[in-house]
Amino acid sequence: MDRQALISRFEAEMGKINRPGVDKLMKYIQGSDFYTAPASTKFHLSCEGGLLQHSLNVLDALRGLLVFNPITGVYEYQVAGKVAAEIPADSVTIAALLHDICKTHFYTTAMRNVKNEKTNKWEKQPYYTIDDKMPLGHGPKSAMIVKQYIELTTPEMYAIWWHMGFNGSYENDTAAGASYEKYPLALALYTADMMASRLMEAEAANKALFAEPSQATAGSFGEDIGTGEPDAPPPESEWQEAPTLQKGE
Ligand SMILES: [Fe+2]
Ligand SMILES: [Fe+2]
Repeated sequence: MDRQALISRFEAEMGKINRPGVDKLMKYIQGSDFYTAPASTKFHLSCEGGLLQHSLNVLDALRGLLVFNPITGVYEYQVAGKVAAEIPADSVTIAALLHDICKTHFYTTAMRNVKNEKTNKWEKQPYYTIDDKMPLGHGPKSAMIVKQYIELTTPEMYAIWWHMGFNGSYENDTAAGASYEKYPLALALYTADMMASRLMEAEAANKALFAEPSQATAGSFGEDIGTGEPDAPPPESEWQEAPTLQKGE
């Protein structure tokens, strides 16, 4: 993967977000290991830059899952031929690119002995392991980190919070299911996250079919299938339910 190209695309996409505090959020990201961290310790994109690639993959998967309406300028989540939700372009970008920001300052490398099949000798090899410096969970932690810098609309908050879906616990699954009904963006993000990690990504790079992003979802680094203009802030009504978190409280 060409990491510099991925960084350019990530920053071009985030550069279109027109929301107070996004400059500070970008400083946090640039000062963290977001651009170098893996996406997982094993399984999908367990490699340098994996988190960055995964975040862009989820953006492509999410845009591919939705239908952009050039008349209204928003994405539609169509279910069985009906529009289940209209989602502003900046919500799509924020939910996808920031859903796993909880993985910053989260991974570290350690050494282990691995047998070299050719020489039959044991060799030390680095591997990724977890050293969670902010142990606050996963989806909720991503939402908390983003909220330190910018406001989130209620659907964005729910989407990031519940992007891991059902996990077999009664309380989690009840709340996740209810959130998907209230805010379909949450279900779309969960689906796009699964599409990226299960269908697009191999252990150390994207699968061949997804080696290059589709022009239908990526454009040329930031020119999405909208106008390329900065996304307008969402209407006032989108913000009402979002709880405000004051610094220092
Ligand atoms: Fe995640
Ligand atoms: Fe993810």
